[in-house]
Amino acid sequence: MCGIVGAVARREVAAILLEGLKRLEYRGYDSAGVAIIDNSDKIKFNKQAGKVEILEQSVQSTPMLGHTGIAHTRWATHGKPSQANAHPHLSNNELALVHNGIIENHEELRDYLIGKGYEFLSETDTEVIAHLINENLKTKENLLQAVKDSVNQLEGAFGLAVIHRKEPDKIIAARSGSPLVLGLGLGENFLASDQLALRQVTDRFVYLEEGDIAEITPDSYKIWEANGQSIKRPTERIKESAEAADKGQYRHFMLKEIYEQPDVVKNTLRGRINPAGIIEETMGIGAQAVFDRIESVQIVACGTSFHAGTVAKYWIEGLANVPCRVEVASEFRYRKFVVPKNKLLVTISQSGETADTLAALRMAKQLGYAATMTICNVAQSSLVRESDLALMTNAGPEIGVASTKAFTTQLVALLLLTVAIGRRHGMEDGLEKDIVEALHTLPQLMQETLDLDRSIYQVAEQFADKHHALFLGRGVQYPVAMEGALKLKEISYIHAESYPAGELKHGPLALVDDDMPVVAVAPNDELLEKLKSNLEEVQARGGQLFVFADKDSGFVDETGVTVINVPHVADVIAPIIYTLPLQLLSYHVAVLKGTDVDQPRNLAKSVTVE
Ligand code: M6R
Repeated sequence: MCGIVGAVARREVAAILLEGLKRLEYRGYDSAGVAIIDNSDKIKFNKQAGKVEILEQSVQSTPMLGHTGIAHTRWATHGKPSQANAHPHLSNNELALVHNGIIENHEELRDYLIGKGYEFLSETDTEVIAHLINENLKTKENLLQAVKDSVNQLEGAFGLAVIHRKEPDKIIAARSGSPLVLGLGLGENFLASDQLALRQVTDRFVYLEEGDIAEITPDSYKIWEANGQSIKRPTERIKESAEAADKGQYRHFMLKEIYEQPDVVKNTLRGRINPAGIIEETMGIGAQAVFDRIESVQIVACGTSFHAGTVAKYWIEGLANVPCRVEVASEFRYRKFVVPKNKLLVTISQSGETADTLAALRMAKQLGYAATMTICNVAQSSLVRESDLALMTNAGPEIGVASTKAFTTQLVALLLLTVAIGRRHGMEDGLEKDIVEALHTLPQLMQETLDLDRSIYQVAEQFADKHHALFLGRGVQYPVAMEGALKLKEISYIHAESYPAGELKHGPLALVDDDMPVVAVAPNDELLEKLKSNLEEVQARGGQLFVFADKDSGFVDETGVTVINVPHVADVIAPIIYTLPLQLLSYHVAVLKGTDVDQPRNLAKSVTVE
């Protein structure tokens, strides 16, 4: 969480920094700030509580001139969102610093620095780093050496960037547990916590590795590894268009990303299937050898990605005949467990930087898993770099905090993985061909489902004044219900719970009354009749049912029951299709309630702290 941008150039950098912050705002948006070394080598800064827009207005009214600067958009961890706690943090007006991550030994360092006479102006853990570097500079010849010394004294996770008024054409950056990338220009260089921030100024990037320290000037950059050795890291050219981070004709990124789904699933499938089946060779070098050995699967992920993993558990056990467990990363990483022989660890993540998922991967690598694989959307991310195999979802940048196209493309990738594993474990004859046929129909069926938008909006109107909602599904549709409930609570702030419909009478039925909308996911599958009985229990108690149902499933509109007919689809792709109306429902409810759809309160897109 939090976003960092830095620029060192021969032109003014304030506008570059602010544009970068706007592109990074999805990472955190409770306060923002910028610090620039002006033309008389003084540090000028501006920090504001609230969104980047507020900072931008303030900088417009009091322009900041200078060729070297750093900027930050924050998601609060230590200390409330406020002007004082916003980054950059300064030390004696000599240096300014921005930081992502958490410093675990900040209290001890704070006491040490107070003893040295430093005054603290914020409640953050970050301010200790600024003073620590300043203190170490007393005995070091330059900023670089002082940063090198200081990072050795820090415990926790950090991506940081620092400028000093006595070395005005330079930014020093350090990465440990929080990503940083350098952007290369001509006579100017940049850094950021995500390349997306710099797409307007360059398409050439150098990714820092764990433990790296970098120094950038307008004409050069140098990198040192954790052991102090100078190192060359590869330069990567990113082809994605800068427009990918624009809303285009849509009112919100979330809506744009929902509507992109028919196209982006084609990108997930491109080159990976032919009429006869999946093309395993495209699943990564060495993937086939791994699949040959695998006897069971452990999936680890967070949030929406965890829901994708929960769908996959039904597929991997039900279609591929292979034992599969799925667990949220924050629990998995702190639990003791037995790792059987030939078990594959699969992480799922849109960003590839989620702290708990990354920690789970690192732990698993020590514990004897046969191999690790990530299903991920960001090619340059830590999860991709550190996993044995990476199956990219190719969904393009997802900016809305609520995950939409990342989820459906994860499901498509997981279905490909299911087939690859199932081939080796007696998957039913003909099933692979059926799955591939169903995948071919997916883009068209997704489009037809999105065309239900108008009727979904009418349903949303009945939710906008509600405080609670229940989402029900059975079998593989239960995780779809989980995802529907997460979407609704995340962006509309309506309390939403999901249950396997069969659990209703074991407790949650007590909540049902005419003020409790109950959403049911009802494709025409083998559990339909069971689901119908569960829904009758709701109806009998005056609950308001909203049923997303296959047109042949026999549901009809009646008092207390609203039916939205979803196109008929093959069972295997039903979880993907039935997710779409639930995304649209939560989107419309949020818009009707007037909440901040793309940047809901208290959340950030990429959760890079534990
Ligand atoms: O980047 P990741 O997929 O690892 O992120 C995991 C969760 O933080 C994420 O899915 C979160 O739950 C979304 N905001 C849900 O819409």
